[in-house]
Amino acid sequence: MSITILGIESSCDDTGAAVFRDGFILSNKIANQEVHKSFGGVVPELASRAHQQNIIPVVDRAIREAGIAKTDIDGVAFTRGPGLMGALLVGSSFAKSFALALKKPLIEVNHLQAHILSLFLRKPGDTKKKPEFPFLCLLVSGGHTQLVIVKDYLIMEIIGQTIDDASGEAFDKCAKVMGLPYPGGPLIDKYAASGNPDAFSFPKPQINGLDFSFSGVKTAFLYFLRDHLKNDANFIEENKYDICASIQHSIVDILVDKLISASKQTGIKEIAIAGGVSANTGLRNRILEESVHHKWEVHIPEFQFSTDNAAMISITGYYKYIQELFTDQSVTPFARYRP
Ligand code: KG4
Ligand code: ZN
Repeated sequence: MSITILGIESSCDDTGAAVFRDGFILSNKIANQEVHKSFGGVVPELASRAHQQNIIPVVDRAIREAGIAKTDIDGVAFTRGPGLMGALLVGSSFAKSFALALKKPLIEVNHLQAHILSLFLRKPGDTKKKPEFPFLCLLVSGGHTQLVIVKDYLIMEIIGQTIDDASGEAFDKCAKVMGLPYPGGPLIDKYAASGNPDAFSFPKPQINGLDFSFSGVKTAFLYFLRDHLKNDANFIEENKYDICASIQHSIVDILVDKLISASKQTGIKEIAIAGGVSANTGLRNRILEESVHHKWEVHIPEFQFSTDNAAMISITGYYKYIQELFTDQSVTPFARYRP
């Protein structure tokens, strides 16, 4: 039997819709919100309004590009959380109404679980190897940084997480103090490609176990810039590439050190990364280098599936649909993380 799932994502500043059918992604549409750039971060009220404007056209484009009719949809999956409450309310209200109108099941999806299942997304004809269970996933996004043992599609155990900032937040905050626009992570990545990662060094946090901390490196970076700017007002402009390469190197180091420890502790060599920061070239390259040394089998999502997207919501919806894990119309979004 053929199963078709519509996925809706609206947790932050991207409005997404995607269609997943029988193991493959048929369409994946996203509307980014440029409105936040000049504010140096996402403005929740503006995000909600933009979602409201974007959601119907984005869903329409996803359905048309998939070449299906609305009536072919078997279930409507949506991001229940975590994320911005006003933004989540737009996607969840739309999904509820759409499921009700189609008389099809509604399926709530945890955004973080979906980032991990993005590793299984394939387009028709794509035969790239999929991760085997159990695998270890370093989940790195704008709001979360976790080490997760993935035992099955819907069975996951968190074995480490950040005690303060997320790694994406660290990238964005460092970029902000350099005067770069939001989101700064991709720009640091771009400039880092032309810089020397050993030009400057920043202290590494000493955190026990498999937890992470990024607030120290962020503060050290702020003081480092302040001190250099005292002597040279053009320090950032003149050293932009080296500064970006060095801070990226430090953040990647913190992440990869814990991943190596987690692999040693658990004995798991099937390794994956997911979430927005998994788009980072420095992190991708470093994981591939380490894989040779530690004999890891590595899985990295396609760029379009690293950052927020609805394809990951639709595939998670699919795995919940086949287990009949449906949600009723009384569901409300959750802003903060829930296991
Ligand atoms: O997963 P995501 O799209 O949204 C959340 O769920 O938070 O992650 C967004 C985060 C932002 O902090 C952004 O700066 C970071 O991912 N990011 C990157 C790169 N692309 C996105 N950070 C470093 N290098 C990149 N290439
Ligand atoms: Zn995300």
